[in-house]
Amino acid sequence: MVSEMPDKDAIGAEMMAKLDALAAHSETTDGLTRRFASAEHRAVSELILGWMDDAGMATHMDAIGNCVGRYEGSEPGLAALIMGSHQDSVRKGGRYDGMLGIITPLACVAALNERGERLPFAIEVLAFGDEEGVRFQSSLLGSNAIAGTFDFEALDRVDEDGITMADAIRDFGLDLEAIPALARKPEDVLAFVEVHIEQGPVLEAEGLALGVVTAISGGDRLEATITGMAGHAGTVPMGQRQDALTATAECILAVEAYAGGGDHMVGTVGMIEAQPGAVNVIPGCVTFSVDLRSPDDAVRHGLVDGLCREFAVICDRRGVTLEIVNPHEGKAAACAPWLIEQISAAVAGEGITPRLLPSGAGHDAMALEAITDIGMLFVRCEGGISHNPAEAITAADAGTAARALLRFIRAFQPAKAAP
Ligand code: HGY
Ligand code: MN
Ligand code: MN
Repeated sequence: MVSEMPDKDAIGAEMMAKLDALAAHSETTDGLTRRFASAEHRAVSELILGWMDDAGMATHMDAIGNCVGRYEGSEPGLAALIMGSHQDSVRKGGRYDGMLGIITPLACVAALNERGERLPFAIEVLAFGDEEGVRFQSSLLGSNAIAGTFDFEALDRVDEDGITMADAIRDFGLDLEAIPALARKPEDVLAFVEVHIEQGPVLEAEGLALGVVTAISGGDRLEATITGMAGHAGTVPMGQRQDALTATAECILAVEAYAGGGDHMVGTVGMIEAQPGAVNVIPGCVTFSVDLRSPDDAVRHGLVDGLCREFAVICDRRGVTLEIVNPHEGKAAACAPWLIEQISAAVAGEGITPRLLPSGAGHDAMALEAITDIGMLFVRCEGGISHNPAEAITAADAGTAARALLRFIRAFQPAKAAP
């Protein structure tokens, strides 16, 4: 039986309407801000759970704030192909990062359900509650819980209002004690496949709507604190200062110099706070973030170690003290060749030459790799812009992504179990 394909423009328009409805729930108006366990998280979860229900899925919110939709196969209780991505956003980001990876599989399940199609496996769509880690600086909370790799020490981390993650989860009406039980058994999961905007310029430059991911770069997030001596900006001679902010400035330039050393390394200082923060006071204490990545874990470890040593030399020379904590590390994750092959065949089915490319951005698939094979389908985004309100995709590309994913699902052949 030739399975009917949805019209690209029709399904694309429906998807864009859903993505726009979700984007209305933001803490900021100049760009999308949706943090974990916030009122905005609650609002979009209600929309997503409703759409999952409309698509014939059994739905619930789990103990860490993920929305879970399950579409049974030809008989109940079969192992599942899991797909999904994250509901949360960065500060003042775009509306497609994360949510496109929820709405696309949701559109596919709705198409299967409309046609009464059941497959020899179950399908689960997961909308993870926190991937970016904006609120607690510890990311992949939802996907780590599903993979059984949740860091319970992170429950003590506090947000900018001094609320602990544990209290935020309780206040959200969730049961902390139930988090360990979220871990999936590997035998219950056939694969995890994530659809995501590319967040880079390659597909647009090559005129391709879709791409197939080969691997995801690993990343470290450091929190550095430099402590000097606050003082009077008018009276302390330049040579007698212990200025925490000028020491930090030298460290930030070291990040740029070290990460610029090739090997696809990248280094970014995205957050900085100088205390006491007054125009006429020499900063006594500065905290700043460092995001370091590489496709190669050994290179990344070398970058982290080298920079920590360099920071120490700078601070020692300047007579200030340094403290560094590392709240998050994500190992590089390779996509499974058999999934690359099957996703590529689906992309080709849409008349697009399968373009293989790595992901410099991190994704929930990195966490799921702990329990199952992973694959990713990239969707072109305008100018490669992301983590920016200007992030944009076209309805046509959204529709093409849904059609390709539906092809992939219908043709999905789980990997042969290891002998
Ligand atoms: O930081 C990342 O790569 C992802 O957006 N969390
Ligand atoms: Mn992101
Ligand atoms: Mn993302």
